[in-house]
Amino acid sequence: MNHKLEEVKNSLKKYGQEHLLNHYETLDDIHQQKLLEEITQIDFELVNSLYKNANQEAKKEKDQITPIEFLDKNKLYDDYRKYEKIGQKSIQKGELAVVTMAGGQGSRLGHDGPKGTYDLGLDSHKSLFELLCDSIKETNKKYDVMIPWFIMTSKENNQATIEFFEKNKNFGYQKDKNLFFFIQGELPMVDMEGKILINEEGQIKLAANGHGGVYEALVKNKMTNKMRDLGIKWVFIGGVDNCLAKMTDEVFLGLAIDKGVCSASKSVVKVRPEEKVGVFCKKNGKPSIIEYIDITKEMAEAVDEEGELLYGESNIIAHLFNLDAIEKMGGAVLPYHAAFKKATYLDKNGKLVVPDSPNAYKFEAFMFEAFGEIDDMVVLRVKREDEFAPLKNADSAGVDCPKTARELYKKFHHLD
Ligand code: UTP
Repeated sequence: MNHKLEEVKNSLKKYGQEHLLNHYETLDDIHQQKLLEEITQIDFELVNSLYKNANQEAKKEKDQITPIEFLDKNKLYDDYRKYEKIGQKSIQKGELAVVTMAGGQGSRLGHDGPKGTYDLGLDSHKSLFELLCDSIKETNKKYDVMIPWFIMTSKENNQATIEFFEKNKNFGYQKDKNLFFFIQGELPMVDMEGKILINEEGQIKLAANGHGGVYEALVKNKMTNKMRDLGIKWVFIGGVDNCLAKMTDEVFLGLAIDKGVCSASKSVVKVRPEEKVGVFCKKNGKPSIIEYIDITKEMAEAVDEEGELLYGESNIIAHLFNLDAIEKMGGAVLPYHAAFKKATYLDKNGKLVVPDSPNAYKFEAFMFEAFGEIDDMVVLRVKREDEFAPLKNADSAGVDCPKTARELYKKFHHLD
């Protein structure tokens, strides 16, 4: 018997995952080799421990949570021009790059294809990718530059994303010159019994490891080296699903440079104290985000002497880092959180199962879990209606859906 197959069988037995070879004999040579290779790459200890913890409350350590200072973009007064000028200079020198995280599954939206390819239903029928690109191109035009654009994909959607860009002539960008695609890390999905799933092709069912995987993916795929070669000093990282994201904001960039910090994040103020959103804070003196379930009523309602909420700055996934910070965070080991999702898989009889409700765990790391690696961060509050039009759900949900995102986009751009 094939030596590698024997080795794999032993290891699967040890971890109770023997079913992964159920369909081995039905695969051709190439797929057999691919499967064995994938199995040897799995960290079974990690997968087992993630599964065990999936249904358990994470142990809450005694963290010291304190408010984080923030500035309001609309109350910078004279400093506004100062920061703007500093930011403009940096952009003109070619020091800024944009990373768009587009590796998510977009399962709540339910669109067939990468989320960035979604047509928001504007008269122009532009996709989310194109709307984001328009915003970068506006800055390019203003300063006669070409801000490098890096797109993070997952193995699942990488090809479809690249093909979509090609079909659209890369929106005027040039692949491998100022447009770069890189693939984020993955982890196996497991069913409710902790068994790793098999996908349609008889291979391991893998899923992207969360937006927290962005730092490691940037470093491992040598994107940070590329950035250094291009003379980049600052990197904006944002999601693909906010069609009002201001990724090349001069004031935001100038503020970070002027304050001498290695990172900056944008926030919007909570609609009301009890709103269920994660908010910026300091955890043991380091920048962080506290999830709404961990905020007591007292904390949620606490205000400073000016009546501002002490924990009122919610995260819109709009972060700016210098390259050293990204590299540092890229080396950090982040905790994973289990998300219960729908996953199509092959059952033990080789039958394809397409579930209509969640049936499997996916393990994800969150971006902000890496903030503990960095020393400081300025938080800049921006106006919700100017910079935040999230697209998360299908229209039936009524919130953060195509209808609401489209209305916000149109209102901001005076399209009605
Ligand atoms: P969300 O956490 O809202 O997830 O991602 P999602 O995958 O888009 O949608 P659901 O939860 O399945 O409905 C916020 C941003 O982070 C990116 C997403 O593409 C989005 O831009 N992301 C998320 C990744 O790039 N990779 C991931 O593994 C997860």
